[in-house]
Amino acid sequence: MSPTVMQQADALHPALSDPKNVQYTYTDPLSEVPALISGVDASFDGSTPIIDMEGLLGPRRSEFIKQIGHACEKNGFFAVRNHGIPEMKISNMLDTARDFFHLPEEERLKFRSSDPDSLIRLVTGFQDKTRNIFVSRQSLKFHCHPVEDFKNHWPSTPPSFREKVGEYCASVRKVEVAILEAISESLGLERDYIDKLLKGHYVSINYYPACQESELDVTHGVRTHTDPTIITILMQDDVPGLQVINDDKWIDVNPIPDAVVVHVGDMLQALSNCRYKSLLHQAIVNCERERVSIASYCYPSDDSAIGPAKKLIDDDHPAIYKDFTYKEFHESMWRVKCSTAKRLDLFMAESD
Ligand code: OGA
Ligand code: NI
Repeated sequence: MSPTVMQQADALHPALSDPKNVQYTYTDPLSEVPALISGVDASFDGSTPIIDMEGLLGPRRSEFIKQIGHACEKNGFFAVRNHGIPEMKISNMLDTARDFFHLPEEERLKFRSSDPDSLIRLVTGFQDKTRNIFVSRQSLKFHCHPVEDFKNHWPSTPPSFREKVGEYCASVRKVEVAILEAISESLGLERDYIDKLLKGHYVSINYYPACQESELDVTHGVRTHTDPTIITILMQDDVPGLQVINDDKWIDVNPIPDAVVVHVGDMLQALSNCRYKSLLHQAIVNCERERVSIASYCYPSDDSAIGPAKKLIDDDHPAIYKDFTYKEFHESMWRVKCSTAKRLDLFMAESD
């Protein structure tokens, strides 16, 4: 492990310098924390904060808002049960995703594009030439809100793609709005504070083939990163793979039946003035089974002002970030090559 990378990792996550916390790791030049490539020993399932969305929408709302605030601040993620997305729409979405990735390659490659602004694009697995790493995730990423404005750009094969994916996207949108309202309130902001910044959502259908024998040192699902979102809502099938950094350690966030995982993204870190931190996460691959996950990225409109909310700034809590627009952030994200966890540093407020 190169000393520079390890020193940076120590500074960011001190407990990672303790050898007993670092198992089966490698260092990735694009990240600053050593990544774990096989599951951690202890299952963390019992401790994933779980929020009941029916509770959130009922008479004890304030209690659930506190739970959400606590989970965002302490863990950076939580699972949501009773989210109201019908089971059938979830299984249709997962089946459709698998069917798409089982199509012949030439059919899928029609959607390949290197333009980050394209309305739909397929990203394929790749080998990182600087290291002996294969990043195996394939994903189809597309805009989906409102569904009617975008669905004609989506694949017409498999034939049910547009219908099934459209149904899922419309349902997940409702969860998104309810959670964002609760997050706004948990910060002491008006209920629609975040909703007013919103543009839409963008879905990434992620497909992780079962890992194969390879000449390479490491096969990874998706590397350690934060999401450039306000929040991300992740629906996983029943194959484990998601790992997150919590209390400076990697932990597995195994699928919980009928629940989705919500986590904090970079934009929420900025607008909450760092009270809620963007979650570092990754996915490992499973050598026996393919895995599918659906990430719904909730992001602001281009011209939204994303500095810390004014109500959260006072003498004891000076603004950590300056005001910037999502457009500025998005452009710099593609222009400046740095670890995703460092992207927001470019928007720090000037200190006096
Ligand atoms: C993502 C992501 C994790 C997973 O899509 O941004 O981190 O478990 N996915 O698929
Ligand atoms: Ni992610």
